Amino acid sequence: MKRLIAAIDTPDAMRAAALVRAVAPHCGLIKFGLEFFAAHGPAGLTAAQGAPVFLDLKLHDIPNTVAGAVRALLPLNVAMLTVHAAGGAAMVAAAAAAAEKGPKILAVTVLTSLDGQALHETGVAGGTKQQVLRLARLALDAGADGLVCSAHEVSLLRDAFGPAPILVVPGIRPAGSAVGDQARVMTPEQAVAAGADYIVVGRPITEAADPGAAAAAIAKVA
Ligand code: C5P
Repeated sequence: MKRLIAAIDTPDAMRAAALVRAVAPHCGLIKFGLEFFAAHGPAGLTAAQGAPVFLDLKLHDIPNTVAGAVRALLPLNVAMLTVHAAGGAAMVAAAAAAAEKGPKILAVTVLTSLDGQALHETGVAGGTKQQVLRLARLALDAGADGLVCSAHEVSLLRDAFGPAPILVVPGIRPAGSAVGDQARVMTPEQAVAAGADYIVVGRPITEAADPGAAAAAIAKVA
């Protein structure tokens, strides 16, 4: 199984296509996020050149609107799509129902950009771990296929929910590469050993002198 997901974070469609050509042979999926989708829309996904797509739009709205968005995305045949668990059980259930046999629905629990203080400011008492567990349970009970989580939460979530949920883990840095704005990172080996199904890697691949070689090196150890 190819566990590497390369995050193609660029608004430049030509660059995206070139990156995909270089890295796709080493990846299970290619991830496009809000930046790329806002710039190029559904038509932009041709940049994947047939590779399975993880569309990271983190949908969060009323259930009817999210279900409509998921249905509107079905013709794109993406393999995975994200929603915010904080939208509530009905919203996650609506997304899962709309996806039917289409994309796997992955729920984002607490954004990794929120530390304990920032989370508290949103009105959540009890700390990050408790909130991640609470939202993970809500999302999985509502029919989500898996979760996006930090490497530091993987073993907690595996202990709580067993092997079934798909766990997709960003914040990965091969030993020796720049951390950038990610605060709590793990190497590919560590994340997979902890129980990650997939690891998401962006800049260590996209900013490498040879993105294909960087992806190959990560794929070898993941
Ligand atoms: O460049 P880097 O490896 O940090 O990219 C990580 C990717 O994973 C980015 O596309 C980022 O938006 C995404 N991501 C994340 N943390 C999350 C969810 C998604 O870093 N909690």
